[in-house]
Amino acid sequence: MRLVVFSGAGISADSGLATFRDSDGLWAQYRIEDVCTPEALARDRDAVIHFYNIRRKELLSKEPNPAHYAVKELEQYYDVEVVTQNVDNLHERAGSTKVLHLHGEMTKARSSLNPDLIVDIGYRAIEAGEKAPDGSLLRPHVVWFGEPVPMMEQAKKIVLRADILIVIGTSLHVYPAAGLIKYAPGNIPVFLIDPDEITYSERDVVMIREKATCGMELLRDILMEMLATEPAKKVEQTEPEQMPLSVQPVDDDISMPATIVFGDIHGLTFWKKVVSENPGYRFVFLGDYLDPYGYIETEQLMNNLKEIIQLKKDRPDDVVLLLGNHDLHYFCSDMVPSSRFDFLIAEEASALFRENIHLFVYAYQVDNCIFTHAGISEEWFLYDFKGDATKNIAEQLNNPTPEQELSLCRCGEARGGEPGAFGGIFWADVSELYEPLPGYTQVVGHNRVNDVCDHANNGGRIIFCDCLFYEKMLSIGQLSHKASCIDRE
Ligand code: OAD
Repeated sequence: MRLVVFSGAGISADSGLATFRDSDGLWAQYRIEDVCTPEALARDRDAVIHFYNIRRKELLSKEPNPAHYAVKELEQYYDVEVVTQNVDNLHERAGSTKVLHLHGEMTKARSSLNPDLIVDIGYRAIEAGEKAPDGSLLRPHVVWFGEPVPMMEQAKKIVLRADILIVIGTSLHVYPAAGLIKYAPGNIPVFLIDPDEITYSERDVVMIREKATCGMELLRDILMEMLATEPAKKVEQTEPEQMPLSVQPVDDDISMPATIVFGDIHGLTFWKKVVSENPGYRFVFLGDYLDPYGYIETEQLMNNLKEIIQLKKDRPDDVVLLLGNHDLHYFCSDMVPSSRFDFLIAEEASALFRENIHLFVYAYQVDNCIFTHAGISEEWFLYDFKGDATKNIAEQLNNPTPEQELSLCRCGEARGGEPGAFGGIFWADVSELYEPLPGYTQVVGHNRVNDVCDHANNGGRIIFCDCLFYEKMLSIGQLSHKASCIDRE
């Protein structure tokens, strides 16, 4: 798989090098026309040479940062090619082996007459009047505004062959470089890492609004998950002839109406049979309706979600639809994209969710039993979400303040988030749920299990039921008010 990284000044910002267009960037201190054009060199050679001498000296004192190293490390798994607008050498110093510089290189200088006569000068200054081997004045090997970009054709070819494109730390203001993205094949994932909102409307991109270091860390996990996922393989979904649900009673005393819980759907359609054969039940869907394991036709996938939405419309009091991280990443900008995000359905999925958002909830609670997609740890609820454990939990989760909304979408350390962070109700990893919110029984999906199972600690209990893939569901609070395991065997 060919992975292309298209980088700009932002990737080196975490190393302490100023960007150009940020408020503290170089173009706030210098005028482009004074230092970055051939006319400037002709007008005031000393000033231009001095500007680059300072930059070169500064570069010597800077080191590659974890984002540069993360790009290098991807070479273990992908055929990585870096196309950079940067004139620094931090990609190379991090060890990246294929780096193409679109705008030249700081540690090189060239003849004023012959652009191909390039000499290595390292980190030293270009002296006043210093000559190139052809006798012309030596100038920085930098592409200035108004000059052709000779590496552009080669860069286009690299991007045309990409299977994955990562755009990192560039404002996409400077052409022709910024136009490179449009050469990426239409069906490949394009990730854009930048702490600022970068508007790119010409194709779907997955925006990771983080600084380079953190963004690359998140993306590395996404890429690893993509690699781990089986390549498109058709999942034969044979609807069983009949669905005699065998009920395995679990020793429990949860008091609630008879409810069947469906773990993460991911395009599976078993739920239809179960719904039709169990009149009188309430049905809770724990979310993640899209992004199948293996290949399911887009139409079938979207229709399945539409049918679930219709079920909710037809039976509003009997059906509860929760949202998962694989749903929110299609329409919520606070949500880090999860594995198997599908660019081809993104627009339709986003519209469908937005149109029906009033039918979905983040959390559902009956007495002291709470349903969420991924679960609630005590640590996250009290110290990140800053919830009030004495009040109705689901009500707080469903009506967050803007700060709490960010916290709801929090991806914890175990799934690639900030060190020490605990995941929120869409992301919590099983390892982050060791101490669940005390006083409640929780029912969650998200963490794949091959059978319904539970964990009790800290005065709280979590029942994991992301096992629909194994054709298993949970029945809870039957007529006898006993929790039960259901599977199809
Ligand atoms: P810009 O300065 O235009 O954009 C830098 C981008 O990096 C912005 O989108 C910032 O939000 C983002 N950024 C800032 N801090 C960051 C961080 N810590 N991590 C990740 N991103 C961060 O720089 P470029 O797009 O590279 O050309 O500029 C393109 C060209 O314009 C440069 O190659 C240079 C300049 O004039 C020449 O010198 C010919």
